[in-house]
Amino acid sequence: MGSDCNSCQPDWPAEVVEVLLTAEQIDERVRGLAAELQDDYAGANPLLVGVLTGAVVFLSDLMRHLQMPVRVELMGLRSYGDAHVPGELCLTKDLGCEIEGADVILVEDIVDTGRSLAWLLEELRKRNPRSLKLCAFLNKPSRRQVPVQIDYLGFEIPDHFVVGYGLDYAGRYRNLPYVAVLNPEAYGEKKHGN
Ligand code: IMP
Ligand code: MG
Repeated sequence: MGSDCNSCQPDWPAEVVEVLLTAEQIDERVRGLAAELQDDYAGANPLLVGVLTGAVVFLSDLMRHLQMPVRVELMGLRSYGDAHVPGELCLTKDLGCEIEGADVILVEDIVDTGRSLAWLLEELRKRNPRSLKLCAFLNKPSRRQVPVQIDYLGFEIPDHFVVGYGLDYAGRYRNLPYVAVLNPEAYGEKKHGN
């Protein structure tokens, strides 16, 4: 631990060029999303399904603002493609329960090309939930390749590679409490994980 006072100068990693969303902005929006969900699911007992690993910070904040009974599960998926050729998607972790007849809210960090969400929503739809909605923290509409309906959205952002609040580059930066734009020089070709 250094002895510098960082109260006037945020302690950014050198690779961060801009803070796009501050922790305060995020907190306010996540509380707003929780209020919307609470209104829409009043009297229900929805199942929140978080997508590993990027959605874990958003999910954990969102669920703590929900004053209603919810269940929580996690799913993982991976793509066998690379930065140039999108590959097959497959589950690396499945749900621990059936979702037939359940009100499912899929919770994701970011909708980018839309490929993984479209695949995952289809996978969940086959299991006959009573309802299935998508709650995404971020949306990058300019990058969309596959249409995805986002029912609850935190923020729309421009086409920047962002990290923080769960989002990573090469497994790093997930723990930043804000969303930041990374200097393109800090990353190589493969940027998009899960
Ligand atoms: P898709 O392209 O919409 O299928 O998104 C695939 C995954 O790539 C997302 O769920 C994120 O985990 C990751 N991803 C997409 N854009 C970014 C970004 O700007 N920063 C970090 N991860 C991203
Ligand atoms: Mg993700």
